[in-house]
Amino acid sequence: MTSYEKLLLKNKNWAKEEIDNDPEFFKRLSALQTPEFLWIGCSDSRVPADKITGTQPGEIFVHRNIANMVIHTDVNLLSVLDFAVNHLKVKHVIVCGHYGCGGIKAAMTNHDYKYVLNMWLRNIKDVYRLYREELSAIANEELRADRLVELNVKEQVMHLAKTSIIQRAWLNEKRPHLHGWVYGLKDGIIHPVFEMNAGTPIDPLYEYDDL
Ligand code: CO
Repeated sequence: MTSYEKLLLKNKNWAKEEIDNDPEFFKRLSALQTPEFLWIGCSDSRVPADKITGTQPGEIFVHRNIANMVIHTDVNLLSVLDFAVNHLKVKHVIVCGHYGCGGIKAAMTNHDYKYVLNMWLRNIKDVYRLYREELSAIANEELRADRLVELNVKEQVMHLAKTSIIQRAWLNEKRPHLHGWVYGLKDGIIHPVFEMNAGTPIDPLYEYDDL
């Protein structure tokens, strides 16, 4: 059996188990999804949103990209955010990075990853530049990368608050609560590192006054 055939077989087994446990499971889910959370995580295969949070299908709306970035020209991310906030009415948006993130480590090198990856990693280099003083004081390279993971998550949460999507929802509905988390690959534990409640003041430069 090839590796991908194994996936299809495991899928059949999983579907059968779910139905055995709860005969209405798929019927209920196919009619409606009412997730309370939007998860913006890293594409890394070792950080599966539902598994590490013990959540079931229907509970988390998920967007993943390299190094869990919130980039204000990313139509994919912004569409997911718009739909989750304005249609699904999520109460929480979680940006979850992880220690040992390859994207973060790559951005700390001077290596030329060629056109598209350079473009993406450039956004992480910009975060490094903002916190250069703090980061360059950390001699150990692994610890420095881990600190950049935390600071990057914080910056991406702040990027969410700079969107009119979040500002409008904060003004009109006092939600969603924004969270910055970091997952530890070595121990499986999630560490909250930053949060912004609805209405948290932001740099006035990014505030819209005609929402
Ligand atoms: Co990663």
